[in-house]
Amino acid sequence: MKKNIYQGKFIVFEGLDGSGLSTQAKLLKEYLENRGIKTVLTKEPTKNSSIASKIHQALSHQIEIDSLQLQRLFAQDRREHLENLIIPSLKEGKFVISDRYFFSSFAFGSEKEEDLEKIIELNKDFLMPDLVLLLKVRPKVCIERIKKRGEEIKLFEKEEKLEKVWKNYQKLVDMFDVIKVIDGEQEIDKVQREVVGIVDKMI
Ligand SMILES: Nc1ncnc2c1ncn2[C@@H]1O[C@H](COP(=O)(O)OP(=O)(O)OP(=O)(O)O)[C@@H](O)[C@H]1O
Ligand SMILES: [Mg+2]
Repeated sequence: MKKNIYQGKFIVFEGLDGSGLSTQAKLLKEYLENRGIKTVLTKEPTKNSSIASKIHQALSHQIEIDSLQLQRLFAQDRREHLENLIIPSLKEGKFVISDRYFFSSFAFGSEKEEDLEKIIELNKDFLMPDLVLLLKVRPKVCIERIKKRGEEIKLFEKEEKLEKVWKNYQKLVDMFDVIKVIDGEQEIDKVQREVVGIVDKMI
């Protein structure tokens, strides 16, 4: 993975579905902008890459696709995301906050140990973020939150699956020192205070 040599900082939120990623990403953008820092908020998978609609169809079971094929699509989407938005923004000195990045591929895509190696290989040329905030929320709590939101349960949102995904995230914490774990079961503003406490050290 490549080191961020640009002026702007690259921050990623990671965690299970429903762990509060979008909520915290939006709050962090507001916080940074209030401090006068130009910030781009974005998410993966993106909505506008050449294969975004194919990813959407796979995630909502409209097309059948195997796990590694899906990860190839995610990597292609990520390549375009980096080229078209993330890197140009960092070059301009902006902060980029991404709601998910390649850690989601590692955690969600690797049911077997050997899959993880393959997925790391697919992502090896990509930019390493400066900071990854991993929101720790139990699968049970995530599912309750998703249900409350009144949405259909997608491919990755079954409790058993989320337990496995969380185990993978824990492995990643040992592998990548940019990852900081935050207790995401606290109230929204308490989680935000912890996020800000960590981000403040890099600005
Ligand atoms: N700390 C929290 N405590 C209680 N509820 C929360 C908390 N953070 C977020 N929520 C609520 O949980 C739901 C999921 O939050 P959010 O959409 O931010 O999660 P997400 O991780 O982005 O989910 P997804 O992966 O599905 O996009 C929302 O209804 C949100 O208001
Ligand atoms: Mg979200």
